[in-house]
This record gives sequence, structure tokens and C-alpha cells, in this order.
Amino acid sequence: MLTENLGEISRSHVFFTLGKGGVGKSTIAIALALELSRKGRTLLASFDPAKHLLKYLGVPEPGRIHSVGVFDAYQLDLEQATRRLAEELEGNLEYLAPSLKVLNAEKVLSVARYTPGLEEDSIIRELSRIYGLTGYDYIVVDMPPTGLSLRVLVLPELYVSWLNKLIDLRLRILSLKYTVEKIRERSRDIRDPVLDKLVELRDTYLGLSTSLKNPDKTSYIIVANPEPLPFYEVKEIMKTLREIHGVNPRLLVMNKVPGDKLTSGSEVFDIISEWCEIPVHHACIQLLNKPPSSLHEVEALTRTIYDCCERLAKDRC
Ligand SMILES: Nc1ncnc2c1ncn2[C@@H]1O[C@H](COP(=O)(O)OP(=O)(O)OP(=O)(O)O)[C@@H](O)[C@H]1O
Ligand SMILES: [Mg+2]
Repeated sequence: MLTENLGEISRSHVFFTLGKGGVGKSTIAIALALELSRKGRTLLASFDPAKHLLKYLGVPEPGRIHSVGVFDAYQLDLEQATRRLAEELEGNLEYLAPSLKVLNAEKVLSVARYTPGLEEDSIIRELSRIYGLTGYDYIVVDMPPTGLSLRVLVLPELYVSWLNKLIDLRLRILSLKYTVEKIRERSRDIRDPVLDKLVELRDTYLGLSTSLKNPDKTSYIIVANPEPLPFYEVKEIMKTLREIHGVNPRLLVMNKVPGDKLTSGSEVFDIISEWCEIPVHHACIQLLNKPPSSLHEVEALTRTIYDCCERLAKDRC
């Protein structure tokens, strides 16, 4: 069982499955949601752009929460969410910076949709929404492959410091404006929609980054396969989590472990040995002959979970 390796978990907890593309993040997320659903109300949310959850669980459409029996499931439609965000961005720019038209810089509006980082921002918004959901004891978030996931986890922290700088700058501009208006003895409106928006964004990102680094609220599960690149990404993810959020993952899962190759001297043995040295909880899952393709088969997979680190330690003796 995966939950046996997680230790004490508080209610209203969010789990992230992270790792290289194809290692089994979605499979582990489903398996975990299945287990957690026996302990409390559980939501499985997938931010995987390939929408594999729809296929695995037969979720009829993205963008809405559906019950899949024992737990609820939600598949983000990243393309649609990103399109909506771009439209909103264009609307905001038009409203907040009407001077663009005067400056003949309207082109800025039409290229807003090509702004880098919109995908990341769509996921960050969804994450804020997920943390705000009440009514679930556990939420499992199936993340996209490493690059996009790390940007999503790192950006809220970065945005807070950028936004604080922009808020300072805006306050200085407003103070100058206020002084000029005062000298000209004009009526002064101290409300400013740009400042309001900056403060609103800063508070949203601050709330999210605080939750992301709170181990009572959030746990990270890093999935790998016994191959060099997936293992390299485990180390990269751990480094980022430590540097940005000051946290360790709650569990490392080594998925697709071929039973026959766990002999001393093989590459698989060496990778797993090094992986076992990382001082957090470990769980290993066997490589099945046939990929699990139903909820039932994923549940069966969790029964193959074993402690390969203990086995390796015994082999060494
Ligand atoms: N232990 C296992 N043995 C055999 N096949 C497995 C095992 N775990 C997962 N698979 C299969 O491996 C494939 C990739 O798994 P999965 O979709 O969960 O990976 P992922 O990390 O979510 O991929 P992506 O990065 O594309 O979202 C799937 O076909 C899945 O059924
Ligand atoms: Mg996936």
C-alpha cells in the first residue's frame, strides 16, 4: 500500500505526483486516490496536458469534476484554460492601460496570447482553486512532466517578489500623481485599479506559495523508473523543492522495477541502490508484463508494492 509509506497525514491534504514523462505519475496518482478514498473524501485532479486521465478513468469531459465511483476526478483542459487566460489578459490590458491606444501600441493586446508562461499560469490558477476547495479530505494532483511542473511550483514564489517590487513602484507613481494633483488643487481619487490588481495577484500567489511549502498541507511524491534519466530528474526535483520551498518529498516511488534485473552489478541495481540512499521513505512497484489499463488493474498494482531497499540491503549482506 502506498499510504503505509506516507506516515501521519492531516486532513485537507494535497499530494503532488512528480517525475519524468512516462514513469507512471498518473498511474501512481490513481493508485493513491484509490487508497485515500477509503480514508476520506478524495479528489484526483489531473494537470497532465495529454489528458490521460480521461482515458484511464473514462472521465467524460475535461474542465468539470466527475464522480468515478469511489473518488471524484477532474481533468484540466489546459488548452482551453490557456486560451481563456489570454483573453482575460487582453481584456485587463485594455481596461488597465487605455493609454496603449493613444500611444498606437494596440498591437500589445493582440500578441498577449503569445506571452510565455501562460500555460504555467493556467495551472497555477487551477492550483489556487484546488487549495480553496472545501469538502475534500484528500486531493491528489497528477502533474505534467518535470520541466513544466517545476516552473509551476517555483513561479508563485518568484511572482510574489516581482509583484512586491511592482507594488512599490506603483505606490511611488501614485504618490507623485497625488502630489501633482494636490498642487493643481484638483480632486484626488486615491483608488487605483492597477494597484488593486497587483495586490490581488500578490495575495493569491503568496497564499499558494505558503501552502506549497507547508508539509501539513502539501506532500510531494516523486516517481521514477530504474533508468539514469528518470533518476536524474528525481535529484533535480528534490533540489528545487529544497531550494524554493525548503521541503523534502514525502515519498519516492520506484516504478517498473524488473524483478529479474535486481542482481548486484546490474545498472538497475546500481540506480536503485543510490536511490535508496536518499533519506526519505521509499516504495517500489514491479514492472508488469501488461500496462495496467483499468481502475481494477491499478488497484492490483498497489498490492505489488514492496520495499526493494530492504531487499537490496539483505542482498548486500
Ligand atoms: N508498474 C508498471 N508496469 C507496467 N506498466 C506500467 C506500470 N506503471 C505504469 N505503467 C504504464 O506505463 C505507461 C505510462 O504510465 P503513466 O501514464 O502513469 O505515466 P506518466 O508519468 O503519467 O506519463 P505522462 O508523463 O505522459 O503523463 C502507461 O501505459 C501505464 O499503464
Ligand atoms: Mg500522466
